Amino acid sequence: MKNNPLPRLDQNTDVREKLLPHCRLSYGEIWEDPKGEHKVGCLDAANDDHITTLMGNDFAHLAVHDPPYNLVAFEERNLNEYIQWCQKWVELTIAHLNKDASLYVWLGADQRNEFQPLPDFMIMMRQMPMKPRSLITMRNQRGFGTQKNWMAVRQELLYYVRGNPTFNIEAEYTDIPKILRGYYKEVNGSMTENGQRSKSENIRAGNVWVDVQQVFYRMEENVSGCYAQKPIKAIDRVVSAASNKRDLVLDFFAHSGTTLLSCERLSRRCFTVDTDPIYCEIAIRRLERFRSLGHLGWQNGHPFEDVLDPSYTTCAEEESFGQQQSAQSILFGEQ
Ligand SMILES: C[S@@+](CC[C@H](N)C(=O)[O-])C[C@H]1O[C@@H](n2cnc3c(N)ncnc32)[C@H](O)[C@@H]1O
Repeated sequence: MKNNPLPRLDQNTDVREKLLPHCRLSYGEIWEDPKGEHKVGCLDAANDDHITTLMGNDFAHLAVHDPPYNLVAFEERNLNEYIQWCQKWVELTIAHLNKDASLYVWLGADQRNEFQPLPDFMIMMRQMPMKPRSLITMRNQRGFGTQKNWMAVRQELLYYVRGNPTFNIEAEYTDIPKILRGYYKEVNGSMTENGQRSKSENIRAGNVWVDVQQVFYRMEENVSGCYAQKPIKAIDRVVSAASNKRDLVLDFFAHSGTTLLSCERLSRRCFTVDTDPIYCEIAIRRLERFRSLGHLGWQNGHPFEDVLDPSYTTCAEEESFGQQQSAQSILFGEQ
């Protein structure tokens, strides 16, 4: 396996300077997919003009947003300011959704700071013309904690709807076989157990997802340099459940481009944006790599191997390298 990872690209100024000349988008610009399917914008999720230009006359069936959580891994702002900022991009999203649509938002709760911003975001959403439908918890396989607290293993995914949106139930089935029997019920005069009555041999994901591995450097889908990458399995589940082929999906916080890649694989169209030209470039490169080689990421290599001299490691911070930290470890730290 290659051992050529990048450091966190939002923080390492040396590496950023080397990469920026190789990014095809500058702030305010939009990449249009030559195949006519997707768009990637180096745009601000909360900027009305940016989002209006991106959308043109299109409306989306689904938005899957994964904003910075206002926790330690990201820039921490005053909570009111953060929620006002969220309100802005939520309003812009809703303005560009179909009358029947779904909105999914990943968010965290800071256990060291009154669980902000999750409850504050939920309360803000009560003013919005969308109804809450579920609160999903994704359980990470690896966790972080000490002897004095429960290990932090969860990530939250809020699900809101308006109108009568798509919900493809097949997407909910996991690869996990049913192992429990019981729930006997009489059907046509004979006793049946739950396994006989249900359509699938496998269990449904439900609103606690235990079957998704968080991304780490050994996985093919890993995109090093990205500190908050979501597993494609989780995004595939959302996209498959809440949209149909050819539908338009929005993601206003592209980063490694997971939603873009999921949409490509599942034949949906995706419009995605990120304020950082480096992450926009990574998202585009990830799509191009998938199209040419069928790979989901770079494992422990990286997206700029063609332009970055391996000696870059000597000028970058040591601790950012090697076994790249997962987002969860950065988010919660060792307490
Ligand atoms: C948590 S990451 C998203 C991770 C993504 N779901 C993935 O799987 O790679 C958040 C991203 O939002 C971007 N971002 C922060 N503020 C933004 C804004 N106002 N508009 C657009 N993108 C923003 C950051 O640059 C970062 O790449």
